[in-house]
Amino acid sequence: MRGVNTHDRGFDPASVIAVDDLPDGLVAVDDAGRVVSVNRAAERLTGVPRERAIGADVTDVLPLRDAEGRDWWKWLDPYGGLSIRSRQVELPLLLDRRELLVAARFVRSPARGGRVVRVVVTLRDAAARHRLERSRADLVSTVAHELRSPLTSVKGFTATLLAKWERFNDAQKLVMLQTVNADADRVTRLITELLDVSRIESGRLEIRRQVVDIPARARRIIAGRVAAGEPEDRFVLTVNEPLPETWLDQDKIDQILANLLENAVRHGRGKVTIVVEPVEWGVAVSVRDEGEGVAPELASRVFRQFWRGNGRRRGGTGLGLFIVKGLVEAHGGTIGVQRAPGGGAEFRFTVPTGAPDFA
Ligand SMILES: Nc1ncnc2c1ncn2[C@@H]1O[C@H](COP(=O)(O)OP(=O)(O)OP(=O)(O)O)[C@@H](O)[C@H]1O
Ligand SMILES: [Mg+2]
Repeated sequence: MRGVNTHDRGFDPASVIAVDDLPDGLVAVDDAGRVVSVNRAAERLTGVPRERAIGADVTDVLPLRDAEGRDWWKWLDPYGGLSIRSRQVELPLLLDRRELLVAARFVRSPARGGRVVRVVVTLRDAAARHRLERSRADLVSTVAHELRSPLTSVKGFTATLLAKWERFNDAQKLVMLQTVNADADRVTRLITELLDVSRIESGRLEIRRQVVDIPARARRIIAGRVAAGEPEDRFVLTVNEPLPETWLDQDKIDQILANLLENAVRHGRGKVTIVVEPVEWGVAVSVRDEGEGVAPELASRVFRQFWRGNGRRRGGTGLGLFIVKGLVEAHGGTIGVQRAPGGGAEFRFTVPTGAPDFA
């Protein structure tokens, strides 16, 4: 194998392959500061091909500097210093202008207090971690903001009612209490959604399978919207029989359908058409509307957390589709959005027929 480090004693191709699969960079250095091994991620991060790196001086292959521009290898001084040192904890360093999180381990012989025979360095791309941290910070601030506005209203109206109860007539009190009630519902819904998000992200979403009649579920959700005041002829349900028997989580299917229908009504326009049809490995459900649709370049973005297009003024939190996607994928299915045949958005998901759970 060309380019693979064979300087190592006990060279084992399988372990080299495994090391190459690591997401983090790995560089091993011998007792004289020469590179003996680099994995693929390290090649990518340093930009030095393996052929050139092996045998070269580590300060040339990996010229790491701290924020003040000091040479890291010089102040790390792996071969000098205290003979009980066994590692350098992870810290941010610069390689050219790129920030990497670098940690090192000193291998000694004998293991305790011996001289350093090898230094193993791991490199992690700091940009990815920064992105993650930023998205967490965004999440916290968005959640705080979303919770604060309904709570401000709840607090405002209750305080006003308590302070000036006598001064309002019944009709005014009723309006205030209805607002408080609706805002409390909003907080509850948001918290439920956030719990779903956290379950999806940590892979803790449980699917309890039973036979689910998808067209019947769709009919029920439509009936709910009609009962809530939507005109009946706004919804069209088309079922292409025969459908296979599907083993799914009924509550979650309801949640998926309700979300897609709500989006079609809230963000779309015109008639909402739901098509349920068999596909090779399961059942596909399309929800189409006649509104502006979703631009192709936004097609993947709409499924992200807190993403909302012009929907911002329509009062959503932008969690709906993220949760829908999580629920569909937890069933082993897929979801996408495209332009509906008659214009507007078409959200289409497919779920496999599934099988009963075996306890
Ligand atoms: N049928 C649709 N037609 C056009 N745009 C849509 C449609 N469905 C969703 N979108 C766009 O995708 C965005 C994200 O949808 P999502 O359901 O995740 O959030 P939301 O509806 O804004 O809030 P909620 O968390 O209450 O569902 C919406 O804000 C909207 O801009
Ligand atoms: Mg929505």
